[in-house]
Amino acid sequence: LEKLPTVETDVIVIGAGIAGLFTAIKASKRNRVLMITKKSLFDSNTRYAQGGIAAVISDEDSPEFHRQDTLIAGAGLCDPEAVDILVHEGPEGVQALIRYGTHFDEEDGQLALTKEGAHSQRRILHANGDATGFEIVRALADKVKSSGIEIWDDHFALDLLTEDGLCYGALVQKPDGSRVVVRGKATILCSGGTGQLYRYTTNPEVATGDGIAMAYRAGANIRDMEFNQFHPTSLCYPGAPRFLISEAVRGEGAVLRNIRGDRFMEKYHEQMELAPRDVVARAILSEMEATKSTYVYIDITHESPELIRHRFPNIYEFCLNYGLDMTTDWIPVAPAAHYMMGGVRTDLHGETSISRLFACGEVSSTGVHGANRLASNSLSEAIVFGRRIVERIDAMGPLAGRLATSGRQGRTSAPTGAIVERRLKLQKVMVRFAGLRRDAAGLQKGLEELRRQLPLFQTNISKREELEFANLLTCAMLVMEAALAREESRGAHYREDFPERDDLIWRKHTVLHRELGIG
Ligand code: SIN
Repeated sequence: LEKLPTVETDVIVIGAGIAGLFTAIKASKRNRVLMITKKSLFDSNTRYAQGGIAAVISDEDSPEFHRQDTLIAGAGLCDPEAVDILVHEGPEGVQALIRYGTHFDEEDGQLALTKEGAHSQRRILHANGDATGFEIVRALADKVKSSGIEIWDDHFALDLLTEDGLCYGALVQKPDGSRVVVRGKATILCSGGTGQLYRYTTNPEVATGDGIAMAYRAGANIRDMEFNQFHPTSLCYPGAPRFLISEAVRGEGAVLRNIRGDRFMEKYHEQMELAPRDVVARAILSEMEATKSTYVYIDITHESPELIRHRFPNIYEFCLNYGLDMTTDWIPVAPAAHYMMGGVRTDLHGETSISRLFACGEVSSTGVHGANRLASNSLSEAIVFGRRIVERIDAMGPLAGRLATSGRQGRTSAPTGAIVERRLKLQKVMVRFAGLRRDAAGLQKGLEELRRQLPLFQTNISKREELEFANLLTCAMLVMEAALAREESRGAHYREDFPERDDLIWRKHTVLHRELGIG
């Protein structure tokens, strides 16, 4: 490491979704900022967010209502303080997005608001109908480019550099394969989630859990990895990707039908199609099994074609490309991995258990989502906690003294076998043993399968696919271990061998640590 070139900056931002872009903009007011993205500013999960961003805007709504909805969805595992912060600071975050150039849809001169599952009020802002994430990324990327922020596209952050419980930067691989040490007074992981752990996901290719794996290798506390949210309705059609059919479609009145044409949600929950996501996803799975089908239908054909095309232009067009017309056809859908509730544990200013290492957005576990994220709370979480992170960084002094650039390196040997096949195998193992329903026997079997893929940490690898695979493997082990440990069912984690929620023993988090194990 000492021989490697070193780049000095103040704030290192790893990742370029809403968390990275927003936090970088805020941090750039008082600091030199370097943004590192493994692809580009336009490759993140945020870009694909359809439904929108939740915030208390309407006079009929209140932070208390938003708080209650979030806590109920979180199934007893939210941190109430973190939720309070989210619901009170969310509206100001939305105003900041608007100041930075985001255009949200309006109706009669007011911000238009829709509803999604488990929200008691209309509080979801959207843009261009169903392309909210795209509009946010467009606006924030423009702002990043005009804010003097240095951007390194196509750079892969390999490992965090730490000493004595403090993070002072990262080891980064450049597009030509050479490596560089980047040092800064604060390092912020904004690297998103783990959707690629599963064969079927709404997430893009880049969602490979890099930040969680890096933080774990560096010795940070990783929390609640068993809580993986599956979106109930992703397109399930031969030749088509698992494209998200937004919950907002159900929010505007769409119903679910099994392949016999029967509406079924009344059998499962009083909130019907707008029940919490885990309930809807498992109900769909049960209906698929009962009818021996790989999908169910979402039906919004009773709404006017004008409304459908106006509210969901992006989804409408996408489906039409595959010969499916939402205005007249029922659309085949099935659950797919969507969001990781767990992640790198942080305090209420986004700082992890390693000093000067922060986590923001899906990579983090702030305590907002508990066991099940309320739809559209994630974009709000990123901006609310992004602002708080910068508040703390601005109050921090520079790095004291000169630290030896000798961060712990996790990788140890090269993986063998074709990486594409290994990734596919891992994804199938995760679907089979750590999917919507789990049990001890399956999780143990899954863990054995994953252990056969060891070594977990690999040093002599440099290709992006290999690096991503190593990170996915680490995250997969964390999910399986946490899921095996939690002997109850709560939120997104459902154990067939422990189908009840157990508040007596299990109203607590699972914390995974590289040396201390699981606690
Ligand atoms: C959706 O549009 O259904 C996704 C919203 C979310 O996951 O928050």
